[in-house]
Amino acid sequence: MNICKQLGIDIPIIQAPMAGVQDWQLAVAVSNAGGLGSIPCGMLSPEKIIEEITSFQSHSDKPYNLNFFCHEMPQLNPKQIAEWEKTLTPFFKKLEVQPPSEFSGLRRPFDEKTLELLRPFRSPILSFHFGLPPNSLLTELKSWGTKIISSATTVEEGLWLEVNGADMVIAQGVEAGGHRAMFLTKDHSTQMGTIELTKQLLTHLSLPIISAGAITNSKQTQRHLKFGASAVQIGTTYLLCHEAKTSTVHRQALKDQTRDTALTNLFSGRLARGMINTFMEKLGPINEKAPDFPYASNALTPLRRKAESLNSEEFSPLWSGTNRSGCQEISAYELTKTFYHQNSSN
Ligand SMILES: Cc1cc2nc3c(=O)[nH]c(=O)nc-3n(C[C@H](O)[C@H](O)[C@H](O)COP(=O)(O)O)c2cc1C
Repeated sequence: MNICKQLGIDIPIIQAPMAGVQDWQLAVAVSNAGGLGSIPCGMLSPEKIIEEITSFQSHSDKPYNLNFFCHEMPQLNPKQIAEWEKTLTPFFKKLEVQPPSEFSGLRRPFDEKTLELLRPFRSPILSFHFGLPPNSLLTELKSWGTKIISSATTVEEGLWLEVNGADMVIAQGVEAGGHRAMFLTKDHSTQMGTIELTKQLLTHLSLPIISAGAITNSKQTQRHLKFGASAVQIGTTYLLCHEAKTSTVHRQALKDQTRDTALTNLFSGRLARGMINTFMEKLGPINEKAPDFPYASNALTPLRRKAESLNSEEFSPLWSGTNRSGCQEISAYELTKTFYHQNSSN
């Protein structure tokens, strides 16, 4: 069955879930335009997740995707945290802020409680980053008829997802903005471009493949579909849309087409692609002192808050893929309509 039929959508365009920069409003605009809107839930409280679902449902009767993380939560390592705060001391002094006294707003993995929360909704489409939830949880999700999607960054990860219950696999190329979905490797030399990864996953897997990374227009969409991808997932290109909640400093940075991006672990402890800012220049972009994911983010919160209040992007994760050429300050509804024209030549 074709992927649009399986997901109940009109066009093979999936809006990438983007935690921290969007809510149900972006998802509604994309779903109402015929694509699949996504709601990132990885950083939300249970109450907020319910609010997001009900807000979506009161503005659209179209399908939507809920996205969660499924990393393993490492033991908190106080020595590592203290080392990190020591490394950040010159920045705390410069901005006259204190390191936080407790942990808040950490990215949490999908667990039994999340499953309970979704039970009344029997959510029809779920996507995961960093692998899949434990088998016991996945079995119940699948018994609802829920379509399970997850990202692979290597062929090995794609094969693992196929064997372990995914219904569709996203080929997340190294150009993609935000966190690398890597879950079987930490070695960034294994990471491939979107086209190569899509081709390799198509060769080795029998599941539908969704291409993601640096896709910005209908010509590129068609190109991936021609290779055999079933759909594309687009993130960065939506970041300037009216419905996105992208911060002012992030929006300003996105408009500069000349800025380079890099993979960094500074903002969360895990590799993610963002535009290079002075913090990344001074400490990295990759620094072994950054605590394990997701703990690294906590110490940065007061720095980011203070800096952003002064209109400075110095401590903000400016997530972006390598290609920002399609970003436009228009509605996501309008933008989605431009992503898919059959026989497109533009
Ligand atoms: C700002 C931003 C936040 C992201 N957050 C998430 C997330 O919460 N969950 C997820 O599965 N992927 C996330 N991603 C990665 C996307 O799913 C996708 O792989 C990526 O956007 C595709 O590349 P592109 O940005 O070049 O279009 C994020 C990407 C960006 C740019």
